[in-house]
Amino acid sequence: MIKILVLHGPNLNLLGLREPDVYGRVTLDDINEHLNELARSRDATLTILQSNHEGILIDAIQDARTWANGILINPGGLTHTSVALRDAISAVALPAVEAHLSNVYAREPFRHHSYIAPVCVGSIAGFGWRSYTLGLTALLDAIGK
Ligand code: DQA
Repeated sequence: MIKILVLHGPNLNLLGLREPDVYGRVTLDDINEHLNELARSRDATLTILQSNHEGILIDAIQDARTWANGILINPGGLTHTSVALRDAISAVALPAVEAHLSNVYAREPFRHHSYIAPVCVGSIAGFGWRSYTLGLTALLDAIGK
């Protein structure tokens, strides 16, 4: 059984309420349900965590070193600011996929740079909640290779 850590960064707990024109009306619980359904069909199990705190996300990544086969992460705003989050992913050396609901490249210039992307297998952005299921599919395929 493949084990995946799914991380949702700051403010993603507000999905459904937060800027619905940008992020849609789907809630984080809905997204997690879609992900769990996909995981079941692929014989994988997910451990899912949302936090507004950088250190909690880093602790979860470090802990994943001992049990996970890969990481699916939407780092939220930390994408564009966090060297520490990037270093944690790099340190544990697990395959990681970065997912964004919105097309960050079609938004403000400060969203065009990701500190996280270079330490990931790949990134998916712009497909709403489907970015997560596309990301999980890509991650499981990459792990299965
Ligand atoms: C986001 C994009 C980020 O720029 C933003 O700060 C978020 C959400 C996305 O999923 O589109 O919080 O990661």
